[in-house]
Amino acid sequence: MPTPDSIRIMLMVTGGIAAYKSCMLTRLLVQAGFSVKVAMTEAATRFVSPMTFQVLSGHPVATDLWGEGQSHALDHVEYARWSDLTVVAPATANTLAKAASGIADEIVSTLLLAQPGPVLMAPAMNDNMWRHPATQANVVLLKERGVQMVGPGTGFLACGTVDEGRMMEPEEILAAIRILADTVVPRDADGDSPTDQTNFWAGRKVLITAGPTHEAIDPVRYIGNRSSGAMGFALAAQAVARGAAVTLISGPVARPRPRGLREFVGVETGREMSAAVATALAANPDWLIMTAAVADFAPAQPASGKLKKEDLGAGWQLDMVRNPDILAEIVPAHRQPGLKVVGFALETEDVQARALGKLKAKAMDYIVANNPTAEGSGFGEENHQVQLLAAGGMIWQSESRPKAELAAELLTELARHQSG
Ligand code: CTP
Repeated sequence: MPTPDSIRIMLMVTGGIAAYKSCMLTRLLVQAGFSVKVAMTEAATRFVSPMTFQVLSGHPVATDLWGEGQSHALDHVEYARWSDLTVVAPATANTLAKAASGIADEIVSTLLLAQPGPVLMAPAMNDNMWRHPATQANVVLLKERGVQMVGPGTGFLACGTVDEGRMMEPEEILAAIRILADTVVPRDADGDSPTDQTNFWAGRKVLITAGPTHEAIDPVRYIGNRSSGAMGFALAAQAVARGAAVTLISGPVARPRPRGLREFVGVETGREMSAAVATALAANPDWLIMTAAVADFAPAQPASGKLKKEDLGAGWQLDMVRNPDILAEIVPAHRQPGLKVVGFALETEDVQARALGKLKAKAMDYIVANNPTAEGSGFGEENHQVQLLAAGGMIWQSESRPKAELAAELLTELARHQSG
């Protein structure tokens, strides 16, 4: 995952009393190692002076498009491209409405429309304004487009009531920013984002599966696994950044959707994932990257009502049936010529031989093998180490790295092997 000191944040402050809390947010971000620039609406400058943000961020604050007091107008496209991610805090009802309808009539709304990276908004407003159907519809629309929301919370509002509409505390917004920062594609040594590079992946259709599957036992219980979806989501973000048209099919995970996907399909069960992969293969992708940890078995007959312990007694057995193996059974039936297939394998012993066995058995072109017991690769650890194998054996071994970086390197190595 990228480290804070490699990530640039554009903090946009709009006109609400909660703007004073954004001073503390700026301080926390800078202390955490992020680079921060601030843009403010005219209304926001009525609540807090731009000078406060300038001192806290260490950068001049953008307050208008026309360069008042400067020799030239702000190049909003260039300025927006500086940032890796954008945070709007506080986000007023007016800002949400403008962002939802694409209005660009002052500095913040213009930068919001011009910036290409992920966006996090921290709404803050009076409770009636928050509950208004117009605001709620705008929030739904923005979320559908991939904007992340943090809050609002419930608490004391400036209008004197205690209700929903309060901006989240700076520490809570920082926590949400850290999660979003994990999806940011690191820049190369020249400071260029991979979005600027033309390369192997540009224009290719890439289908990626991610996450675990949940197999229902009854309406409230399921059998699942510990897959977090991190690798699949990181690969999707990296492939998008390299210009690929990416379809991401994911089991249930709690992580923000990468921006710029061509399609996102959320599924629950292995059977649903099988069906989604079959449908997506009809669109003739160039690549299928199967990172998903598909459950091999599912309860044979999920109960339609919640199982009660009184009815089950002191112990009980659950009948399980095999789920389809997507790579072995679904892909061959829907595979179009030219499709390259990349599988993943978790192996604790005899890693290379077993991974190669799976590659052959499931007709993969490549397999990424991960040994969770190897040093620097364990479950729950930040860093992982993988091997990339093709039919002839290992073609690349990674260092122990955060998954976002591994994802970037994997795409580079796959491209190198294809072009070599
Ligand atoms: N996979 C799949 N469909 C399944 C299970 C797994 O397509 N029902 C894919 C995974 O996404 C992964 C590859 O197969 O890319 C290898 O998965 P793994 O679970 O390691 O392999 P299995 O053949 O299920 O072997 P094991 O007995 O080790 O679990």
